[in-house]
Order: sequence, then structure tokens, then C-alpha cells
Amino acid sequence: MRNFGTILITGGAGFIGNHVIRHFVKNWEARIINFDKLTYAGNLQNLTDIESAENYTFVKGCITDTKLLEEIFAEFNPDLVMHLAAESHVDRSIEEPLEFVKTNVIGTVNLLNVAKNSWKDRAADDEKLFYHISTDEVYGSLGATGLFTEKTNYDPRSPYSSSKASSDHFVRAYHHTFGLPVVISNCSNNYGPNQFPEKLIPLMINNIRSESPLPVYGDGKNVRDWLYVQDHVLAMEAIAQAGRAGETYNIGGNNEHQNIELVHALCDLIDEKLGRTEGASRKLIKYVTDRPGHDRRYAIDSSKIQAELGWSPQIQLKEGLSKTIDWYLDNTEWLDQITSGSYQDYYQRMYDVR
Ligand code: NAD
Ligand code: DAU
Repeated sequence: MRNFGTILITGGAGFIGNHVIRHFVKNWEARIINFDKLTYAGNLQNLTDIESAENYTFVKGCITDTKLLEEIFAEFNPDLVMHLAAESHVDRSIEEPLEFVKTNVIGTVNLLNVAKNSWKDRAADDEKLFYHISTDEVYGSLGATGLFTEKTNYDPRSPYSSSKASSDHFVRAYHHTFGLPVVISNCSNNYGPNQFPEKLIPLMINNIRSESPLPVYGDGKNVRDWLYVQDHVLAMEAIAQAGRAGETYNIGGNNEHQNIELVHALCDLIDEKLGRTEGASRKLIKYVTDRPGHDRRYAIDSSKIQAELGWSPQIQLKEGLSKTIDWYLDNTEWLDQITSGSYQDYYQRMYDVR
């Protein structure tokens, strides 16, 4: 079982990243460095409960900035890099593919290179690990049956998934060519508190609460495999501790649903929680033009991580959705600050790029 003195986490102000940071700050004695550019998706208000913890440091910066990353590695000498920073939204990748290449491909290669150079004189028994967090979208789209395994061929179809697939290839290349100790995980759709309200679940919750239209792409029958974010965090912890270097682990929720089923469930749960008439929110559903190249179905075979590392998802969808809805309904200010844009001004001023 690996143990780490210092962990560098990129993208820790984002949705999954803030849950990872909180978990490691609270449960590990390690020093935790959160390195994040604070793009539109980064929000330090996600971390106010742990921001003054002694083992936590925030650094504002971009993963394409070689000099800054070299300074961070020299100053903190991380043993583990957990690389989450990315442009993560498929719809945005269709609008601005180059931004995805810059961060997801060039930024990842830059980080790999700095880690390789900084770790080159490490002692043979020194345990270092570069852990790259990736997506099931690299495998492409499934038909009605079948599951993605770690051996499924890559077949990315959107600019987002192509950029993540490219970064995965570079991570493996640094392992095979330079001997960098790496591990990769490819995960299905996450949901939970603090997710930016551009993704399906928080967007729908936000629109249902404000009684706005609920845009369902195409016929609404695309299938995603949903995983509660805390389950993903525990999978990542297991991989960081005991995942084999050079290996890939698929992580999934075993929770496949058509989008329209999920939207119905959100409508009904929120109607019940807000005491609205049964069926009221379903009337807000509006079928809209499909996403170009929309992948039909994702589903994960996570038997490898279950067998090797003893991880399995614990939160069932209904319980996870209920917890998620409760969080958003209790944090409407968080949502309002995002929709108005005011969440960024304060922190952008507080943390200048070093
Ligand atoms: P997110 O968009 O919520 O957060 C991304 C974070 O990265 C933000 O804090 C942002 O400020 C930061 N960032 C972006 N560009 C940066 C740069 N150039 N330099 C430094 N920081 C930068 O994303 P998320 O949903 O939390 O996803 C995190 C990671 O997990 C991504 O790598 C994503 O591909 C992967 N992933 C996400 C899901 C999901 O369902 N959300 C599923 C599987 C894998
Ligand atoms: O599978 C893992 C991936 O899941 C991650 O790598 C990505 O970072 C993450 O964004 C997510 O990608 P998706 O494209 O699956 O997520 P999104 O929430 O954007 O969409 C989920 C499904 O809902 C998809 O089939 C498109 C549909 N959709 C989405 C939105 C935003 C709608 O029908 N209406 C919407 O308004």
C-alpha cells in the first residue's frame, strides 16, 4: 500500500476535484496542493470548509505553464500527482475544440514532462506516481448491448473525448518511453453536489427549481452510466494507494439510464420535495436539436478494479439523486452566483497567477 507525503492535485476547484481535495485533506496526513487555473468551471467556494486546513495549499496556475509547474515541483516535491484539470464539457468542445487541445493535450504533456524531469534523480525505492484521471468517452459509443472494458479499442468521437484519448496515449507513452510510474482511470458520468450547472443533472435541477424549460437532446434515449461522485473519490483513493503502475482501471456506477428516465426521476423527486402537483415539472420538458455526434450509450465493466482493489460503488441512483437535489436546494445562493457570474470576480482578485 503506497503512502504519500505530498500530493499535487490539478483541477481541485472543479466538480470532482473539490471532492477529492476535501477527502484527502480530511483523511490523509499528507500535504495537499491544489493547482487550478480557475476557469469558468473552477470555484473556490466549493472548498471554503477546508481552505484554512494546515495541510492544504492553493496555487492558481495553468498546467501549460512550464516554469510555474517546475517551481511547484521544486518547492513541494510531490510524491503523487492526481491530474484532474481539464476542459470537461462535450458541448463546449464542439464550440471551441482548440481550448480542449491546449489544456487536455498540451497541458497534460507539459505536466508529464515536468514530472519526468523533476523525478529523474529519484531513488529506486522512492515511490512516485502520476495518476491521470480520464473518461469512458475515449472508448466511443456502444450499441444496445456490451460494456467498455480496459481492453476496448479507443474510438473517441467528440473533440472532448479525442483530447482525453490523446492525453491518455501520452501518459502511456511517458510510461513506456521514460519509465514514468503512471496509472490511468476511465470513469463514467459523475453526479453530486457542486457540479457546474451546464451538465445534465445540475442543469435540470436548476431549471426545474426555476420552472424553466428542460432541454432534452434528440429523442432522450441516449444512455449514461451514472456514478455518485463520492464513490469515484473512493475509487481514486484505492487506485492511488494500490493501483499497479502502467495499468488502466475502468470505474462505473453499474447504473445505466436513458436521459429521459433520469429527467423524469429528477422532476418527480423535486415535485415531491417542493410540494408541487404530481407531474408538474415533467410539463417543462422540451425536446431540442440533438448534440452533433451524440454518443448513444456508455456502460462500464468495472470488474477489474472490483477484483484487484476491492472497490465497488456504494450509492444507488435514487439515494444519490436525492442527496444531490437536497444539496442544490439548500445551496441556491451557490447556483445564483454561478448563473450571475459573480462567483468568479472575488476569487480571481484574491489569487493572482504566481
Ligand atoms: P470540471 O470542469 O468541473 O473542473 C475542471 C477543473 O480544472 C476546474 O477547476 C478548472 O478551473 C480546472 N482547469 C481547467 N483548465 C485548466 C488549466 N489549463 N490549468 C489548470 N487548471 C485547469 O471537471 P470535472 O467534471 O470535475 O472533471 C475532472 C476530471 O475528471 C477531468 O479530467 C474529466 O475529464 C474527468 N472526468 C469527469 C467525469 C464527469 O462526469 N464529470 C467523468 C469521467 C472523467
Ligand atoms: O462519461 C463521462 C463524461 O460524462 C465525462 O468525461 C464528461 O466530462 C462529462 O461532462 C460527461 O459527459 P456527457 O456528455 O455524458 O455529460 P452531459 O451532462 O453533458 O450530458 C449527459 C447526457 O445528457 C448526454 O447524453 C447529453 C444529454 N443532455 C445534456 C445536456 C447538458 C441533454 O439531453 N440536455 C442537456 O441540456
